[in-house]
Amino acid sequence: MPPDFDKQSYWHHRFLSETTFEWLASSETFLEVAAPFLRRLPRDAPILQLGCGTSDLHIHLRRQGFDNVTNVDFEPLAIEKGRAMEQLAFGDTRNKYLVADVLTLDLGTKFDLVLDKSTADTIACCEGPSVLAMAHRVKNHLAENGAWLSLSFSAFRFQIEDGTLPLKAEVIDKLPTPKRNPTDPDIFHFCYLLQNGTSKTTLGDQLQGRRRG
Ligand SMILES: C[S@@+](CC[C@H](N)C(=O)[O-])C[C@H]1O[C@@H](n2cnc3c(N)ncnc32)[C@H](O)[C@@H]1O
Repeated sequence: MPPDFDKQSYWHHRFLSETTFEWLASSETFLEVAAPFLRRLPRDAPILQLGCGTSDLHIHLRRQGFDNVTNVDFEPLAIEKGRAMEQLAFGDTRNKYLVADVLTLDLGTKFDLVLDKSTADTIACCEGPSVLAMAHRVKNHLAENGAWLSLSFSAFRFQIEDGTLPLKAEVIDKLPTPKRNPTDPDIFHFCYLLQNGTSKTTLGDQLQGRRRG
């Protein structure tokens, strides 16, 4: 049986002992993909991280000067650990930390950039049209011309059969996974850009040129 990735109890037990872990890619690698989006933002731009877990993504963002990051996770231990990580790294906390479910997220505020590293993958383990529900929640939190960058192991993560995805989704980068042997097949993780269909930002198109793989 696969682990209960969609259950808070799974993450609670995991975070009782896990201090730091990076899903799919390091924060440095993910932020390389996000660099063109971060470059056009002021340092106080509101950024939302969905399902922060025990990742150090917010630490790397703050090192780059972005300290208006809201970190959300439905497991309180992740939120405690994220806050402690910032305190340890900088001697204070400027980020926001919220225990919240991304499937019912209602923060009453908009973000220029939404980041998730494998959280949509976790949500895909829930029963029903969960990724679609998540996408609707994220759409409600996207500023005009805001962008959601989602790193996933799936080439089909946002392929919603009936075309009801409320955001325009495109793969802007493919990150090769490490190989044990040179003859192993190429396996990639996929970085999606999701935006409102009406967004005037053409960064997604510009980024096509730097796709890897
Ligand atoms: C695969 S881990 C990714 C963690 C982190 N983003 C990383 O890259 O290491 C998924 C995270 O999403 C959180 N999560 C799962 N379902 C959630 C939900 N419905 N609402 C909020 N957080 C959720 C889990 O607690 C876990 O921290």
